[in-house]
Amino acid sequence: MNFTFLGKYWQFYIVGAKNTILLAALAVIIGTAIGLFLSLLKLSSRKPLRFIATAYIEFIRGTPLLVQLFIIYYGLQTIGIRFPDIPWIGIILGINFSDFMSGVITLGLNSGAYVAEIFRAGIQAVDKGQMEAARSLGMPHRMAMRHIIIPQAIRNILPALGNEFVVVIKESSIVSIIGIGELMYKADTIRGNTFQPFEPLLVAALLYFLMTFPLSKLLAYIERRMHSGERS
Ligand code: ARG
Repeated sequence: MNFTFLGKYWQFYIVGAKNTILLAALAVIIGTAIGLFLSLLKLSSRKPLRFIATAYIEFIRGTPLLVQLFIIYYGLQTIGIRFPDIPWIGIILGINFSDFMSGVITLGLNSGAYVAEIFRAGIQAVDKGQMEAARSLGMPHRMAMRHIIIPQAIRNILPALGNEFVVVIKESSIVSIIGIGELMYKADTIRGNTFQPFEPLLVAALLYFLMTFPLSKLLAYIERRMHSGERS
């Protein structure tokens, strides 16, 4: 094993790790917005709204992230070429999307489907008796939702949302394939530059682990604290 390449290439890893975190953070922010919206649709009493949300969630979760990435990447970047009669479509939707944005958008759209389920499950996991008790005290539905259900749902949602961030950090490695300079891409570059096929990957794995492990530990801690006042 030879890790002397680190002397020359350590900055590659720093830049890569930064881009990975940026990519994952943006994706989870977009994902949370989409997920919140979808979960509301999914919990709605109107069937067509529920259908739209379910279709989106199931489709995204039932197709590979890599395929979604290629659809967005090649789709958005070539949309102007494929619709020459509608010149504005390329300008608005395609040409100006950088590779990085294609990655962020794909990861965000993907994460949104998973986050939607996190929200839905988090809300539905609150005991039915809570809503019934609130209503029987005379609270209107909205008020019961706001003051009784949502605060308890947050205990279920926050740790799972943090976990989604951990997942997206790892999943973001897939966008190296379209040339986004995140951690995995940088590790690959170092592999090529040094003719060392193996060791640069170990360093990348270690760095991913250093990002995800403390985060999981922190989440477990927060989860324990949030449930500490609970009666069982
Ligand atoms: N590896 C999965 C796939 O290829 C993507 C999983 C994304 N998961 C998530 N929680 N965002 O489809």
